[in-house]
Amino acid sequence: MKGVLLAGGSAQRLRPLTKVTNKHLLPVYKKPMIYYPLETLIQAGIKDILIVTGGEYIGDFFRLLGSGQEWGAHFNYEIQEGSSGTGAALQLAKNFVQDEAFMVVLGDNVVSENVKKFVDDFKNQKEKFKAKILVAKVKDPQNYGVVTFKNKVITKITEKPRNPTSSYVNTGLWMFLPEVFGLLQNLKKSPRGEYEITDVLDHYARRGELSYSILKSTWTDAGTFDSLYRATMLMKEKEAKESRAKHA
Ligand code: DAU
Repeated sequence: MKGVLLAGGSAQRLRPLTKVTNKHLLPVYKKPMIYYPLETLIQAGIKDILIVTGGEYIGDFFRLLGSGQEWGAHFNYEIQEGSSGTGAALQLAKNFVQDEAFMVVLGDNVVSENVKKFVDDFKNQKEKFKAKILVAKVKDPQNYGVVTFKNKVITKITEKPRNPTSSYVNTGLWMFLPEVFGLLQNLKKSPRGEYEITDVLDHYARRGELSYSILKSTWTDAGTFDSLYRATMLMKEKEAKESRAKHA
């Protein structure tokens, strides 16, 4: 299975931190932000990874990550011109993905558990589901894509609603079949003026074709000042917990 890591966008919500650099190169505790989603993919057994980012920073990413050899992986790079949304960024992965199921991770997502089991479940499933998302329970669902359930099945995903229907949200960890590229081609711009992967997920949800697993451990994105701080604290706590376990 291949992996696609989306690390483009202009990160307006983090100005001035992102005035001269890309959000995914900012520090989260002891590492650049992008290390965390990369580790998530690699721990899930995904070693062939496409990193999509804006042209002005591609050199910095390449200097930081190189070929992937140090990680026991293979990194490929693709440039997204402008920042017209996650849907536009994912479209650039079409040639890389070819005809396999694949995983997508947003470059600002920090998760502390190994997601290999969820990935393997999707890989081994029969044709019923066209995509799978990992879902997390949060205190501020209105800031995310909110999941609506009916009899434990996802029926809808609504991007940043004023009145959330549940506390469960769409994280930026998704699995797709290559047929998703057909849908991406027909996306219309969202109210915030972007092509959004959420619209594709919502399409699958409304047809009963979207499966999910709920993350058990902590998850956050790091795209606002509050969530960037939260991500740092989570990783600090995780390290402290691991160190206590080692010395117990
Ligand atoms: O993190 C989870 C949330 O991510 C979900 O709950 C939402 O449903 C989903 O739409 C997304 O929301 P955000 O508002 O956080 O998306 P944002 O525009 O910040 O983009 C998230 C990542 O996508 C970012 O880290 C880099 C990548 N991206 C974004 C844009 C706009 C690109 O690669 N290219 C782009 O043009």
